[in-house]
Amino acid sequence: MALSEKKPVPQHIAIIMDGNGRWAKQRGLPRTAGHAAGGEAFRRIANYCRTLGVKYLTVYAFSTENWKRSEEEVSGIMKLLGKYLREALADMEKNKVCFRFFGDLSRLSPELQKLCEEAVKESKDYDVQVNFCLNYGGRDEIVKAAAAFARDVAEGIYKPEDLTEELLASYLYSADVPDPELIIRPSGEMRTSNFLLWQSAYSEYVFMNVLWPDFSPEDLDKAIEEYHRRNRRFGGT
Ligand code: FPP
Repeated sequence: MALSEKKPVPQHIAIIMDGNGRWAKQRGLPRTAGHAAGGEAFRRIANYCRTLGVKYLTVYAFSTENWKRSEEEVSGIMKLLGKYLREALADMEKNKVCFRFFGDLSRLSPELQKLCEEAVKESKDYDVQVNFCLNYGGRDEIVKAAAAFARDVAEGIYKPEDLTEELLASYLYSADVPDPELIIRPSGEMRTSNFLLWQSAYSEYVFMNVLWPDFSPEDLDKAIEEYHRRNRRFGGT
């Protein structure tokens, strides 16, 4: 079924790219092969989002908890990200995608940090935006925002009673990015896993039974159709 042309696509879609490990296991492949296929799925879906006119795509690429995985798996994911960013930098003028990173990048290798910095700098004027959540945790993001506000209070910039939802949001990685209307989690898991805790207050969640490396443009259409069927009331009637 084609997407309705009358209903607007969400301007911001966020995705928990889950199921890479299971996809690899089903094929008797190492987990890193699953992540490589997950990286290809990301390219496919990012391109499709652009075709649909989605303005912001946020993907959970590496969480603050993912460091608990084996050294081999962590370094495999980091290598994939490095390779992807080098290619993205080379193709910048063709793809015209603005890159942002949500997360504490200080724990990444200096080389990867530099690639992230360069990608942000080189792409800042493009208007379709991809936010990579890298060493990201929703709780960690809120704690860091609270600490930054406390520092500003200590410096006399604000008083504690100045704090509003808007002001706290301005300290988050996502400051100036609208909240996602739609959050998709493939792979059959039904958890939020510390993803965009603040920003998801009124997001519609769509959980799907497909593993991320198999995720297709048709699956994205299905998620958007499901989103169109929802009746968003934002606490009203
Ligand atoms: C979750 O699946 C996936 C990750 C922790 C890593 C996601 C990383 C990528 C898709 C590669 C990033 C590269 C680019 C270019 C975006 P899982 O490993 O938890 O799967 P499982 O639940 O089946 O074990």
